[in-house]
Amino acid sequence: MNAAQNELLTRITPGTPCGQLLRQYWQPAALVDEFNPALDPRMENRPVKAVKLLGQELVLFKDASGAWGLLDRDCAHRGADLSFGRLESALQGGGLRCPFHGWKFAADGRCLETPAEPAGSKLCERVRQRSYPVIEKSGVLFAWLGDEGSTPPPFPAFDCFTAPATHSFAFKGLWNANWLQAFEVGIDPAHPSFLHRFLQDEPLRRNRPECRRQAVSQRQRWRH
Ligand code: FES
Repeated sequence: MNAAQNELLTRITPGTPCGQLLRQYWQPAALVDEFNPALDPRMENRPVKAVKLLGQELVLFKDASGAWGLLDRDCAHRGADLSFGRLESALQGGGLRCPFHGWKFAADGRCLETPAEPAGSKLCERVRQRSYPVIEKSGVLFAWLGDEGSTPPPFPAFDCFTAPATHSFAFKGLWNANWLQAFEVGIDPAHPSFLHRFLQDEPLRRNRPECRRQAVSQRQRWRH
């Protein structure tokens, strides 16, 4: 692959060909556990997190009704960072309030209040914060970043998303790689039995004589 092909395949911000392609699929945004107050006490009162997906800066939150909201992080008014916003309770009418001038947004992006406007102002009705659909599956929050106004595809019915919680678990890690490098190694069937199994060059069941013999003969084969 030459440098130009590499650029074409690995750039995924809005407006890039591969970015457009990946936006046709549900993308993992966060773990449900990241919002669990038992694991992170800050989530008790303020389940709000900044997330970056496909190069986009977003804010993910759980509103007072329990609905998930995913919005562009820069406020529709003057671009203040909504990840510092005030999450309002059901008594306050719910929604995420911008820390700068107090515009308030629902989980679906509707503008609920523009407090500095004169009484009777209809500005709020014309304002919308870009929002993205979120779906919770097997402990993962998936987001769909497709074109505004278009309908997300059905969520894939893979086994891991239909299996009971006793048979699945969710985790995440930071890989310093682009999406193509991560994907390519993920579907590479040849590496796990070497890289992940024989890292310490020991048989898995050391106490059984037949396993010891097997491991010794395997090492001898590798040497020749
Ligand atoms: S920048 Fe958000 S309300 Fe003004």
